[in-house]
Amino acid sequence: MNHSIIEKNGTLLLVLSLIVVSIGGIVEIAPTFYLENTIEKVKGMRPYSPLELMGANIYKREGCNLCHSQMIRPFRDEVERYGHYSLAAESMYDHPFVWGSKRTGPDLARVGGRYSDEWHREHLKDPQSVVPSSVMPGYKHLMRPLSVPNIASHLKANVVVGVPYTDEQIEKSAEDLVAQANPDADGAEDVLARYPKAQVRDFDGDPKTLTEMDALIAYLQMLGTLVDFSTYDAKANFR
Ligand code: HEC
Repeated sequence: MNHSIIEKNGTLLLVLSLIVVSIGGIVEIAPTFYLENTIEKVKGMRPYSPLELMGANIYKREGCNLCHSQMIRPFRDEVERYGHYSLAAESMYDHPFVWGSKRTGPDLARVGGRYSDEWHREHLKDPQSVVPSSVMPGYKHLMRPLSVPNIASHLKANVVVGVPYTDEQIEKSAEDLVAQANPDADGAEDVLARYPKAQVRDFDGDPKTLTEMDALIAYLQMLGTLVDFSTYDAKANFR
């Protein structure tokens, strides 16, 4: 009898439906904000070094993520081609993330160490000179100097969204940015101490100038290298 009141009144039906659907939604979504293990912690993951962070920004600015994914799915064909499937923790410091949904080119989640810096440099400047049939555009302009007016504020902005940069990392960010691409600079070892596994060297073949190319290649060479999969035990994380 009462039910017919709801059925005859469209607005009431709509409001009550919305209430019911919201309760269902909240029950499903809210706990993920409070669970500490939504993203399982994985040994080796650390915030990006200032140079890698700048490289990640250039990657997004140039829209590399429109043609390249960074997300290896847990399927046999993907794992055989690209390596261990991606873990949530591996993109936990990406803001915004660059998983991507289109693969005009291959997945890049584990491209670090696969090619030499020189290969990347030539490939980025003129992809067809290395892979003649490539449809990837050239990025010669990345040989220009890297302009970063205030790197510390970039790190601080990341802290606001949850990246655990320490005060020391923020304070030394301008030095670290330069030192990572110039192994002769003072402080190259400090970069390694602050960012384990960081690769410290000249990336773009021009040791005198810190370029956007340095930053982008430093970022690409880091991708997929932080977590040591020879010791990673997927099952241990589900216990
Ligand atoms: C229009 C689509 C497109 C865009 C945009 C693009 N790429 Fe590519 N990329 C490709 C294709 C296709 C290939 C495969 C052929 C080749 O190696 O050039 C490729 C290959 C690569 C490879 C080699 C991967 C491997 O495992 O062999 C890297 C590294 C790469 N791209 C980086 C980048 C970066 C960095 C950017 C942004 C600055 C970028 N790409 C932008 C299409 C694209």
